[in-house]
Amino acid sequence: MTSKEKVLEYLESNKESYISGEAIATNLGLSRNAIWKAINELRKAGYSIDAVSNKGYKLADDNDILSAAGIVSYLDNSLKKIYQSEPEMIRIYDNATSTNRLAKEAAIAGAEHGTVILAKEQTAGRGRKDHSFYSPEGGLYMSILLKPEHLSTLEPDAITTLTGNAVCDAIETLVGICPRIKPINDLFIDDKKICGILTEAGTEFETGDVQWIVVGIGINFDSDISAFPTEIKKTATSLFAPGKNTITKNQLAAAIINKIVVI
Ligand code: BTN
Repeated sequence: MTSKEKVLEYLESNKESYISGEAIATNLGLSRNAIWKAINELRKAGYSIDAVSNKGYKLADDNDILSAAGIVSYLDNSLKKIYQSEPEMIRIYDNATSTNRLAKEAAIAGAEHGTVILAKEQTAGRGRKDHSFYSPEGGLYMSILLKPEHLSTLEPDAITTLTGNAVCDAIETLVGICPRIKPINDLFIDDKKICGILTEAGTEFETGDVQWIVVGIGINFDSDISAFPTEIKKTATSLFAPGKNTITKNQLAAAIINKIVVI
């Protein structure tokens, strides 16, 4: 992990209070100068960091930038250790074709169980039955690679339902809203879709053995539904209005990973 990532994870984990540069340096085993440089780099990358003399630094409440360090800071302790020691297990793209496609490529290349691919937007997001999934900025698009030896079932509908329940629980815990699962792969709030799930797998053709599974989750997070194509606009809703989110995408992604990834 770079100094910048370490400082970001530290600030994400201590969002409630100001921390002095000295305290950050001591806790992370870095020099004061390295902290100062990291803060500057984070600001250049778009993070808003409050600085108050005699108090220190604090991540401003309105930051909502997807980052591995941000996600890791919200993971349960057992997972946190694993993801911290395997930086390749969280991969974030500004713009991806489809996170499911990238996760499948990663699976074939031998990526670990629990590897998560996220994108800020997708240019070729896919839904069930080869439909496209409209994926502009504002959504949370993530695919999780799972290996069969870590799963209690390999029944496709059960895995999709388990994923749907995990997303509902995460949203209910963090936001207090309980979406309804419309079997098998859609989540609705007030009769409008906020999330779609696409589960795909790779098998050894001769034996039929499942080698890997990818669960893809697309959530309208603080999406501008008014700018959606007319046909989708009628049936879609978003968890928050644009910029009105009370939690961050990192928080929601971590809460979902906490519920889905069992190592
Ligand atoms: C559906 O509504 O039919 C399922 C939509 C699944 C969309 C998610 S977004 C993240 C992942 N990447 C994709 O291309 N699809 C899934």
